[in-house]
Amino acid sequence: MQPYYVTTPIYYVNDEPHLGHMYTTIAADVLARHERLSGKDVFFLTGTDEHGQKVQQAAEAREIEPIALADKVVERYESLWPELSISNDDFIRTSSERHHKAVQAMWRRLENAGAIYKDFYEDWYCVPCETYWTETQLKEAECWDSHNCPDCQRDVEKIQEESYFFRLSAFQDQLITYIKENPDFIAPESRRNEVLSFVEGGLRDLSVSRTTFSWGIPVPGDEKHVIYVWIDALTNYLTAAGFPEQENPKYWPADVHLIGKDILRFHAVYWPCMLMAAGLPLPKRIFAHGWWTVEGEKMSKSKGNALRPADLLEKYDADVLRYFLLREVPFGQDGDFSVDSLKSRYNSELANDVGNLLNRSLAMLKKYNGSVLGETGEELDMDRALIADVDAMQREVDELLNRQAFHLALERVNQVVKHGNRYVEDNAPWGLAKAGDTARLNTVLYHLIETLRLVAIQLSPFMPEKMADMLTQILNKDVKIDALRLLDCAGWGQLKVGHTCQSPAPVFPRME
Ligand code: MSP
Repeated sequence: MQPYYVTTPIYYVNDEPHLGHMYTTIAADVLARHERLSGKDVFFLTGTDEHGQKVQQAAEAREIEPIALADKVVERYESLWPELSISNDDFIRTSSERHHKAVQAMWRRLENAGAIYKDFYEDWYCVPCETYWTETQLKEAECWDSHNCPDCQRDVEKIQEESYFFRLSAFQDQLITYIKENPDFIAPESRRNEVLSFVEGGLRDLSVSRTTFSWGIPVPGDEKHVIYVWIDALTNYLTAAGFPEQENPKYWPADVHLIGKDILRFHAVYWPCMLMAAGLPLPKRIFAHGWWTVEGEKMSKSKGNALRPADLLEKYDADVLRYFLLREVPFGQDGDFSVDSLKSRYNSELANDVGNLLNRSLAMLKKYNGSVLGETGEELDMDRALIADVDAMQREVDELLNRQAFHLALERVNQVVKHGNRYVEDNAPWGLAKAGDTARLNTVLYHLIETLRLVAIQLSPFMPEKMADMLTQILNKDVKIDALRLLDCAGWGQLKVGHTCQSPAPVFPRME
């Protein structure tokens, strides 16, 4: 089986999960489910980023140990994911022993390759962003006089200390060549161009150790230094794949790292250069998605308007949230979460289109033939057109998801659903029943139910619970959605004449 490795960022434990964390994790879950359905050997990783000054300070503010804070927040994540039907294969914590080993092994590899040296460091540091700024960068951003962070506007601190450095500058040309030769490496394209011009602007060596706090992984052989939190964090993707025990981990290189646009530089510049220095393969793809605002406003801790997954789950089904987040905004662009748009998308696309097609098809089958698929007649052009559309949808959804175009994949399935509803109108089964044209009536109902079955399979990575429900009504047996494989179920014509469906039960009742 072909391996497929998808990751989310690992989330900081100084905050509780919010909409942004939920978004990336759902997107990664859809890819993982889609690839499993396609028959790949999937490894889907998420986890938590627990070290660093920010976490240490948050713990101090609560007068607890950093690990106690981490344990508490990790529990929130670990209990949230099953509620959102997240099917991760592993959960990595950077405070774990296996990760400690991997980071130190990574450090030694970089050191042995001559990519790390010791020097003095004088710079400006933004604690909340864990980012260093040079004087020039602050001046360029017009933040020099006020000494604040160009990203978050909060105060930056002056830092002077002995530090280890990573020779980032030495990999500049190699990285530029790599990005140019691998057009799919960084997506979307606008982000790729952004990274390219950043790298072409010149890379400075990166300070990769700290002596001013202790909550982190010590530099091997020089224990008063703690390894920079981003070196620590990025290595998680290797730890979980089996590094350093395995020389060629089965799942490495990753097929795709999903991240938010704010952490692009770390993933698309630092990480590839670290891997090049360590002599390890680069991830195949890095996709940076956009940011959500809520009812038109930026989410922030201070405003207290961050959307919490637990609150959302009290009002909406997990599957409805999963659908909305991936359908509403093209992956890669910013978007706005509003209750109005969620309701209108739900009502028009799920209740009116998918729900209605399922409901009316099963209702007619029940009314006209006791829920049994009857002997079909001659196949007409309009039947063949529907089958061709379903076939094309299956191919196109796969192509679209291979490039993380979730919203287009959903739109493509919706086209088939609309086609199905048109097919009902065009064939008017009620008229066929009245005229006693049983062969044609059976043919039309068969094509509808078979279309619905294949639609449900394609939608199952997005809405696993709802689609299990839909398939159960069609197949008249319990469906284990995680065990579905396209090889066994994707062909047209698997439903047999004589099969009995269930009576319709609403899967997507209208929202008021
Ligand atoms: N710990 C680092 C990642 C290390 S990965 C090796 C980190 N953690 S985070 O918890 O602050 O953020 C995780 C993700 O949440 C980021 O990808 C970020 O883009 C995303 N989001 C935070 N707010 C968001 C929105 N408002 N909308 C969408 N995603 C957002 O960064």
